[in-house]
Amino acid sequence: MTNSIPLSVKKMENRNNQPLLEINNLIVEYPIKEGNVRAVDEVSLSLNRGEVMGLVGESGCGKSTLGFTILKLLKGGTVRAGEINFTGTNLVSMTEEEIQKLRGPEISMIFQASQNALNPLQKVSNHFIDTLKTHNRWDDNAWQSVLALLNRLEIPESRLKDYPFQFSGGMQQRIVIALTLILNPKLIIADEPTTALDVLVQARLLEILKEIIKEYNLTVIYITHDLGVVAEITNRVAIMYAGQILEIGDTQTIFGNASHPYTKALIDAIPNVKDEEKKKMSFIPGHPPDLRNPPIACCFVDRCPYNKDICHSEKPLLLDLEFKNGTQHSVKCFIYDDRYQHLFSKKAD
Ligand SMILES: Nc1ncnc2c1ncn2[C@@H]1O[C@H](COP(=O)(O)OP(=O)(O)O)[C@@H](O)[C@H]1O
Ligand SMILES: [Mg+2]
Repeated sequence: MTNSIPLSVKKMENRNNQPLLEINNLIVEYPIKEGNVRAVDEVSLSLNRGEVMGLVGESGCGKSTLGFTILKLLKGGTVRAGEINFTGTNLVSMTEEEIQKLRGPEISMIFQASQNALNPLQKVSNHFIDTLKTHNRWDDNAWQSVLALLNRLEIPESRLKDYPFQFSGGMQQRIVIALTLILNPKLIIADEPTTALDVLVQARLLEILKEIIKEYNLTVIYITHDLGVVAEITNRVAIMYAGQILEIGDTQTIFGNASHPYTKALIDAIPNVKDEEKKKMSFIPGHPPDLRNPPIACCFVDRCPYNKDICHSEKPLLLDLEFKNGTQHSVKCFIYDDRYQHLFSKKAD
């Protein structure tokens, strides 16, 4: 009988098929005296529950702006166009009051220097109590969850009575991560969360983060300029350049079959233990374009060794190459556009 499934279950199934986050043609600009800085330029992407997406690119390519825009934490920037649908609701049109309710329990952001968010006058234990009480999560089991998380993040329980300044930078960052996870948010935006730490501290924290993401089945946008980190913890990667996504696909495909000349250059530049210097120097010279004058053609044209006239005059589309491991592999480059194949004697390899 078709009506044997209760309606509520059917609704739940539909909800779970929907991407958790769906960004459509998002344009974000910072108005400045000389005009506008277009930091996010027609970005579209979608993220399913349980996915960990790496958002990768050089400094200044719009990664943080994209993260801030999702949570409406943009300072001085404004959304010019597009939608950010989170569980089906457009965040762009939400009021500050509405989005405030989502920050923490629904969507949470961890920053590079998040420890600044800790209150120097409050003991660590009080940070947890305050966070849980503010979001009405203070119940009989709450403290047990705090202790489990502290244990998982290797923060000794005996240190709950200490103040933030008594901890190292790495420990403070772990406390912030525990405070983020205690509310069990549906989406976590981690913006270079380990970058400010010492290399060894960074490595250990990354390892713990990787384990926690798996154990808690977290949905994460992991922002980084470090492809090594991406290889470690993500299952999908979006390559950003000059505010645009130039390539997106599952992590295996991006590393095994990178298609955009920029992605290839980034992967070639990953330091390799054997010939670190040589690899570093192989990176394509030049700079990203000035975002005060958004490029009218391909944004990578000035650095691309394969560029043709068309790349200087027209904007390439984000083309779907293949569907693998349940994920679309797409690339924004004329080399892969059937209409212009004849212009490129050989593919970028
Ligand atoms: N408040 C601001 N006012 C003007 N321009 C800004 C502001 N914040 C960022 N930008 C510019 O926006 C671009 C993207 O910056 P950002 O999102 O911080 O990049 P990323 O996180 O990839 O390093 C850069 O060109 C940066 O200079
Ligand atoms: Mg940034």
